[in-house]
Amino acid sequence: MPLPKAELHLHIEGSLEPELAFALAARNGVPLPYASTEELRHAYSFRDLQSFLDLYYALTAVLRTEDDFHDLADAYLRRAAAQGVRHAEIFFDPQAHTSRGVPIGTVIEGLGRALDQAEHRHGVTTRLILSFLRDQSAESALATFESARPHLHRVHGVGLDSAEVGHPPAKFREVYRLAAEAGLHRVAHAGEEGPPAYITEALDELGVERVDHGLRCLEDPALVDRLAREQVPLTVCPLSNVRLRCVDTLADHPLRRMIDAGLLVTVNSDDPAYFGGYADDNFAAVREALGLDDETLRTLAANSFTASFLDEETKAARL
Ligand code: HPA
Ligand code: ZN
Repeated sequence: MPLPKAELHLHIEGSLEPELAFALAARNGVPLPYASTEELRHAYSFRDLQSFLDLYYALTAVLRTEDDFHDLADAYLRRAAAQGVRHAEIFFDPQAHTSRGVPIGTVIEGLGRALDQAEHRHGVTTRLILSFLRDQSAESALATFESARPHLHRVHGVGLDSAEVGHPPAKFREVYRLAAEAGLHRVAHAGEEGPPAYITEALDELGVERVDHGLRCLEDPALVDRLAREQVPLTVCPLSNVRLRCVDTLADHPLRRMIDAGLLVTVNSDDPAYFGGYADDNFAAVREALGLDDETLRTLAANSFTASFLDEETKAARL
């Protein structure tokens, strides 16, 4: 039985399996530049974050209707539940869809319908995190946030993702201020490919409560001390880090060093359809490659609830 856990770093578009991509392409009459699911899987060999993002955005073309977004989220939640996930805080990238002419309401209401049913259908509680594409302009993020306002009852927080280097967090100060004003939680990807200074900037300029990835904090001992002292959660994604070549092999992954430094780390899947595994696959991979014992794995699972946006009473019940 997989350990009960929360998944805190999951891009719903990154859970699009080749089989579902082909089914939605057929349903919507969208041509795909691959002859088969096998051929598509062969394209899953990445040099870096950008080479992955190119394919990730290209495949979003099959997502058109509310039902598509519902089916995508429902398929993820079914798989996640089988891997012990009891709570999922799910990113979505509205700009990847609105830029193709899909209304933001179609995206949020489709995902929302699947999330509404998730506790009953799959035993998974959920939260939705609206993520801004950091390689788009600050104005585009602001316009996206304004267009999401009628749907904010379905949204629990905001995040920041896509190509990191050259797009520092401070660019999004204003939209994060508005999000805080609207009572939303704040997280951001930082220190995946970008420098440790982006982690500090995300904390100080955007007021983030959690850092997604955060791997490169290890290059700055003063920052590690701060993250440990303040118990800022880091949502680490081991299989993603290997596939996007942030680390050479799983055996070189700094997860154990991060735990030993007193950091509040969690283990997550990021884009499971592309990186070779869902939540418990990531747990199993680090157990094997880093020789983590059962107590450490239990700590990682407990951390995932501690670091979640569940209310304190619910957290206590799950720990
Ligand atoms: N990093 C940045 N942006 C992303 C990722 C990631 O791993 N996955 C989807 N968007
Ligand atoms: Zn991510």
